[in-house]
Amino acid sequence: MVKKELDVMFSSKTVVWETPQNLYEELNNVFHFTTDVCALPENAKCENYYSPEQDGLAQDWRGDCCWMNPPYGREISKWMKKAYESSLDGATVVCLIPARTDTRWWHDYVGKAAHIEFLKGRLKFGNSKDSAPFPSALVVFGGEEKLKAVLENKYALLNHKFEGRSMVLVPVRFNKSAPVMNRVNKQPISRPSKILAMNCDCISGAQAHIADATVALIVTDPPFGIGEGKFEKLYNRKEANVATGYVEAPEDYDKWTLDWMKEAKRILKPNGSMYVISGWTNLYSILDAARKLDLSLVNHIVWKFNFGVHTKKKFVSSHYHILYFCKRNGKPIFNNHCRYLPDEKLENGNSVLYQDMQDVWEIPKEYARGKVKNCNKLPEALAEKIIEYSSAPGDTVCDFFLGNFTTATVARKLGRDLIGFELNKDIYDCKISDFIDDLVA
Ligand SMILES: C[S@@+](CC[C@H](N)C(=O)[O-])C[C@H]1O[C@@H](n2cnc3c(N)ncnc32)[C@H](O)[C@@H]1O
Repeated sequence: MVKKELDVMFSSKTVVWETPQNLYEELNNVFHFTTDVCALPENAKCENYYSPEQDGLAQDWRGDCCWMNPPYGREISKWMKKAYESSLDGATVVCLIPARTDTRWWHDYVGKAAHIEFLKGRLKFGNSKDSAPFPSALVVFGGEEKLKAVLENKYALLNHKFEGRSMVLVPVRFNKSAPVMNRVNKQPISRPSKILAMNCDCISGAQAHIADATVALIVTDPPFGIGEGKFEKLYNRKEANVATGYVEAPEDYDKWTLDWMKEAKRILKPNGSMYVISGWTNLYSILDAARKLDLSLVNHIVWKFNFGVHTKKKFVSSHYHILYFCKRNGKPIFNNHCRYLPDEKLENGNSVLYQDMQDVWEIPKEYARGKVKNCNKLPEALAEKIIEYSSAPGDTVCDFFLGNFTTATVARKLGRDLIGFELNKDIYDCKISDFIDDLVA
């Protein structure tokens, strides 16, 4: 980012929008901030801060407790995205932002926060005698443990009488997107993931690179054996965004399925889990291979997606199958409270957790407008659900058919290591560049 641009971004952070010191101190008493991620030397709130030259957006916030009063111009969406994504990596980020519920960034990110407080009236920023021309909100990403402790007997972080005005209180919510906690020490994950992704055939690749019984979780989505490589152009009208070279399954789908699943079983730990996504046309091949390999079927999940290809003479197909296997007598881990707490309720009073644990999953397919992709990218929400329930931070996740690297993306976000294969050089070359910093040499 050029300096001029950065100075403009930060201009809203000079005298006018500088955080009121007493508000900061009240929050600092709770959070003990380690870094002001967006500051100028004259208004930095912490000893550690990122100035425009250092560009807080380019820094790693993992493991930090961050104070963020970002520039309020259009760039704010980048800061909100960074705050949210850093919280998934274990950062706590407390943001003071304009309460702009009409913006896209508000809906994209604030809805995923652990806690939101709307401030009644308008703040006086810096040394200004006048109130700001907009209302403000406090938004907290991550930091669940501190929030729980502070909010046990009240609803707001700030005293109700802050500067003589009370707060509009929003009930505390512990959001499903809150950072994953280590199961043992209950600390947020803050570990870099190791990624080993290879542009080769999955069977020979696994034989050459993966030792027996070393992988905790396999999440994989093989070609369905229905000539789906030909669908690419139907799914994305912009030719420049179509990944070419999709490798389809060999003609003998049964034999090939048995071959790669045999490798998958070999590398799986005794208590590991394996999720295979399948269309309905060749579902029996997967089930048959699993039976021959003596794998136990734990769940047969139906994934209902939001749109199928229109048909006139039969029903529209709008589901896939997700087969969740383990080894015979295996005791796979299942983190049943990793996403929702038992007492969280839907609007109709039903349990969110119970709904999340049913074996029909309604997850929309993603629209990745403007991005290069092949036709059957899994939604990240689906990979996230599997990885959260069936692995722990630090575990190794394997994907035999990386495609758009969805499993890899989510594994990295959740602090898991990943090993995987993709035979199509075009999509591999296009996606691997996102992982350069995390690749194992
Ligand atoms: C259904 S797609 C995977 C989609 C992926 N789950 C995603 O979210 O983008 C299957 C992928 O397997 C790749 N493939 C086919 N045969 C392969 C093989 N023998 N080894 C590795 N990759 C293979 C295809 O090129 C294709 O990208």
